[in-house]
Amino acid sequence: MLSRLTRFDRPRPPARSGTLQSIYDAAATGWQDGISKLGFLSAYADLMSSVPVVRNEPRVLDVGTGTGAFAQAWLDAHGAPAALTLTDISQSMLDTAAARLPGAVTIATPLGGSLDHIPPQDVVLCAHVIEHLEDPQAALAWLYDHIAPGGLLVLALSRPHWCTALVRWRWGNAAYHPAQAKQMLEAAGFADITLHPFKSGPPSRVSHGYIAIRP
Ligand SMILES: C[S@@+](CC[C@H](N)C(=O)[O-])C[C@H]1O[C@@H](n2cnc3c(N)ncnc32)[C@H](O)[C@@H]1O
Repeated sequence: MLSRLTRFDRPRPPARSGTLQSIYDAAATGWQDGISKLGFLSAYADLMSSVPVVRNEPRVLDVGTGTGAFAQAWLDAHGAPAALTLTDISQSMLDTAAARLPGAVTIATPLGGSLDHIPPQDVVLCAHVIEHLEDPQAALAWLYDHIAPGGLLVLALSRPHWCTALVRWRWGNAAYHPAQAKQMLEAAGFADITLHPFKSGPPSRVSHGYIAIRP
């Protein structure tokens, strides 16, 4: 049992029954309040204050947006973008995000799905999504392909910790050491990869922020 909880490198089935989509649909109502109480809103705000400006009026995409908290943190730090697109597999999450960010376009599609109708983005955000996927390397390659040259990725990614083991039991997410994450980002083609540890509370124990440039 312990080894199943403490081996972090692959996603596992969540404790609850149902598809990941139905589990996140059911979680949508309390999600924003929950991550706020755990300190993720301030952790995200802190990370976004370190994100450089890539161009005026950028196009911004948040993949696996949930209730839009990561996108909101970017907006609070950088102002309104030229366009904001939010994607998720959970329609309930997307509906909540759309209510909180009324100017955004929402698209119900998985990471890896077709987004051919939107142009390459200047900023791609992705918080706590690729750790649900069987092939995180392919996920990073897909994110890379949706960023314009010179644009950047802001990633929040679960890190191994005993607290993460509890989260993993419930949600099934994998987790990655910074060295693994950096290796995967480099293999996908990213450069100037910087690690941004979260400073306090649960976010500091279960997650890390990363900023990476698409050359
Ligand atoms: C841990 S939550 C994070 C939500 C939000 N990014 C945040 O930080 O609050 C993971 C989100 O990713 C979505 N998700 C899971 N698998 C996905 C996939 N394959 N493609 C897109 N979104 C996915 C879930 O529906 C959920 O909203």
